[in-house]
Amino acid sequence: MNAKFTRDPALLVGADRIHSSVYTDPEIFERELNLIFGRSWFFVAHESEIPQPGDFKTDQLGRWRFLLVRHRDRGIRLFHNVCRHRGALLCHENYGNTQVFKCMYHGWTFATDGSVQGVPMREQMRDLDVQTHGLVPIPRVDSYQGFIFASLASAGESLRDYLGGAKRYLDLMVERAPEGRIVAVKPVQYHYRGNWKLQLENYSDNYHPAVLHHSVLSTGAKMLKEKFGENPIGAKSNARYEERVLGHGHSIADYHGGRGALWMNAYDDEYLQMMTERVGMERAMELRDSDIHLIIYPNLLVHVRMNHYRVIKPVSVDQTVVNTYPCKLVGASKRVNDALISNTSHHVSAAGEVQVDDLQAFNWLQEGLASGALEWIPFKLYGEDEHTEMEGECVSFGTSEGAIRGQYREWTRLMSATADESLSAPNHDPAYRW
Ligand code: FES
Ligand SMILES: [Fe+2]
Repeated sequence: MNAKFTRDPALLVGADRIHSSVYTDPEIFERELNLIFGRSWFFVAHESEIPQPGDFKTDQLGRWRFLLVRHRDRGIRLFHNVCRHRGALLCHENYGNTQVFKCMYHGWTFATDGSVQGVPMREQMRDLDVQTHGLVPIPRVDSYQGFIFASLASAGESLRDYLGGAKRYLDLMVERAPEGRIVAVKPVQYHYRGNWKLQLENYSDNYHPAVLHHSVLSTGAKMLKEKFGENPIGAKSNARYEERVLGHGHSIADYHGGRGALWMNAYDDEYLQMMTERVGMERAMELRDSDIHLIIYPNLLVHVRMNHYRVIKPVSVDQTVVNTYPCKLVGASKRVNDALISNTSHHVSAAGEVQVDDLQAFNWLQEGLASGALEWIPFKLYGEDEHTEMEGECVSFGTSEGAIRGQYREWTRLMSATADESLSAPNHDPAYRW
C-alpha cells in the first residue's frame, strides 16, 4: 500500500510513525476541523477573561467565529459570531463590554443572551418571528476550574469525562494561588506558517531544547547563576523529565522542579508563607516547585510554573495562530505576579528568547514536509521505561515521544468517525445557558 494515496486515518498513523500528509494535505485538515474540532470538546477561554456582565470576547478557530459573553445574570453564553439576519460577521472587536451587539449591515441588535433586541423597520415585516431569530448558540458549553470548553456536537461525553486524568492538573494550576483562583490577562499572539499539530507536539518534545534553544539556555543559566547563585528556588539536582499520557490525547511533561535555574525566580518567601498558611509547608513547597507542561487535546497548553495557558487556533493546513494568556495568582504579591507575566513575555513574545526558535523550526518543518521528500515520520525514539501506572496513566522518561503517540491515538479515534456523525444540528433554544 502506498499511503500517499489514502486518507484512511488508520493507515496514516502507525504504532511508531506518522504519514507526512497529516501535516500537509488540505483535505485532511478539513476533516480535522469537522471530526476533531467539530465534534470533540475544545478550549474557548478562561472565565476571568470576561469577569463583568456585558463583557465579551470574540475568537476564531478554523472557519468558525465565536462570541463569548457574560449576560447580566452573570451566566456565560457562547454563540456563533454571525448575525441571524443575513449572516454577516456580527462583532468585530476582540474584547469589550456592551449591552447589545448591533449588526453593521441592516442594524439588527441582539442582547447578551442572544435574543433579538431590535429590528429597524420592524413594522414592515409582518412574517418575522423574532423569537426564532436569536443568535445561534454553541450546543454545549461547560467549564472546569474556570477553564471554559465547548463542543459543536449536541451530544457526547461530558466535559468532566473528556478531561479525565487531566482534571487534577487543572486543579493544581488553581491550587497554586493563595486565594485558589487565577486571573488571565490580555494575550500575546504569535502566528506561524505550519500545521497546528506541530505546536501541540512541540509542547511535549524534550528532545529539541538543548539544541534549538541552546543560545538562551546557556546564556540564561549563566546570568541566573550570577544573580541567584548555585541554588535558585525550585531547582532540584538530578531531576528526571517524565511524560504521562493521560488518555484522550491529553498528557503532561513533568520536570520535577529541575528547571528552577532556567526561569527567573518568581516565587518569594512571602508567597511561600501565604501558601504554607493555606496548605502547610510541604504542600506549599511542592506547589511552588511544580514545573509541568499540560496538554489538553486538541488546543489547550498549560504552563504551570510560568502560570500561563496557550490556545492553538488552526487557520489552514499550514497556518496557525497561538494566543498565550499570562495569569495572575490571586492573593500573591504584585512582585510575584509581575515576575510571572514577565517570564511568560520573555518566553513567547516576538522579542522573547524561546518561542521564536520554535516558530522558525515550525516554518522549516512545514516547508520540509511539504516537499514530499519523506513519506513517514518516526515517533518512537526511546521508550524502554514505558509503563502504565495508576488510573491508566502511561509513564515514560526522556525522549520517548509517548505524549505525541498518545495524541495520534486520539487523532485516529476521532478521525475514524464518519462525517455525518461529526456535526449535529445547532441548538436554537434561545433560553440555552449553562
Ligand atoms: S445582516 Fe445583520 S442586520 Fe442584516
Ligand atoms: Fe521549544
